[in-house]
Amino acid sequence: MTHLKLLICIAAVLTMSCMARDDSQALTAPMGWLSWTRYACETDCKRYPKGCIDEHLYRAQADAMAADGYRELGYNYINIDDCWSEMERDAQTHRLVANKQRFPSGMKALADYVHSKGLKLGIYGDVGPKTCAGYPAQNGVNGSNYFALDAKTFAEWGIDSFKFDGCNEDAHHFDDLFPKMGKALNESGRHILYICEWPYYQFQHKDIKINYQAIADTCHVFRNYNDIWQNWPSIENIINFYGDNYDLFDKHHGPGHFFDPDMVVVGDYGMSHEQSRTQFALWAMFSAPLFLSNDLRDISPEDKKILQNKAIIAVNQDKNAFMAKRANWDQAWAKRVEPKVNGQWSYAILYIDTNGIGEKHYRSHKVSELIPEAKPGTEYVVHDLYLDEGKEILGTLKAADNLELLVKTGGSCRMVKLVPKK
Ligand code: GLA
Repeated sequence: MTHLKLLICIAAVLTMSCMARDDSQALTAPMGWLSWTRYACETDCKRYPKGCIDEHLYRAQADAMAADGYRELGYNYINIDDCWSEMERDAQTHRLVANKQRFPSGMKALADYVHSKGLKLGIYGDVGPKTCAGYPAQNGVNGSNYFALDAKTFAEWGIDSFKFDGCNEDAHHFDDLFPKMGKALNESGRHILYICEWPYYQFQHKDIKINYQAIADTCHVFRNYNDIWQNWPSIENIINFYGDNYDLFDKHHGPGHFFDPDMVVVGDYGMSHEQSRTQFALWAMFSAPLFLSNDLRDISPEDKKILQNKAIIAVNQDKNAFMAKRANWDQAWAKRVEPKVNGQWSYAILYIDTNGIGEKHYRSHKVSELIPEAKPGTEYVVHDLYLDEGKEILGTLKAADNLELLVKTGGSCRMVKLVPKK
């Protein structure tokens, strides 16, 4: 770079006009909480005082995240989804306004509160003129938009992450609009994590060739499949979608830019204990964002144990952020993780049984098939990740041996880590 160019860039940085995207908050998959799947757009706070979209909900989740051990494990975003604003922008300033009945203290005060707990606050918007639930969003009429104004408002409030949905807008325009909003966020004067639903809506149009490279260059997190629901069939669809499309996704996923299979619904009403363990395990295998959508104030000790399993969180937060690959057989997944010993990677392995009938069964796969790069002489120590926080050792295996694990049916799993012996 010439001296002149350098000077111009320094000047531009000082005026915040060429502030680059900041990946430092997303070197590993972001972790936190998001209201949608559990609370949706419930706005009747008289009837559901503990379950509506209002400032008390977000404060209470922040309290629980800070007090109950989640924050220390890396969960740090409290994210607001749809339905938080007034139905109209301010008539004079055109700024968005938080709903006055449900957020009487205003967004800045909520952000201050969340920050005082050592956490971050996220907010939601949409690339069309209205959000999916019909609230005012970022696009305007006749080519105008509120991208810069809203990014500025969010920055002034102290917002730390922004989920940008894709309702009410033609997905053919997304390659233009999503980067524009990203630029506005980067120029807002605050580092804001950018969560996009850009590929999800485009995926529904056969004539659109999705530019994953541009998406990964723009967004820290990008959703590319259906909304998750609080039930096992929804999870199973998502699992299969990622298994079927690994080759397409793997190259665009890594530190700073993560595919998002949507929220973690452990702690909600729709899944068995076994299925909850499986969802959490698989999201760890994907290096996926861990945005919990549950009630952290009211969660069973069993579910809390799943969400606070350090060994599995470590697989999720592995610094290389590889995506798990489904082996040729149904539902045996393998992911490269640290530590690397004598040049050989460790591997996390997950077996899932999706059968709806039968007793638990042994599943058995050759190590060399799960880990194609395994050298014949390497011996792997097998740690069970769900039994005892990664400390329980199930023996050692070589490439030619079988990894045999007893797996229950109905969406149950076993998860282990194979670490090469020194
Ligand atoms: C869409 C998104 C969801 C949620 C809702 C809000 O359906 O995919 O994650 O944000 O909109 O209305």
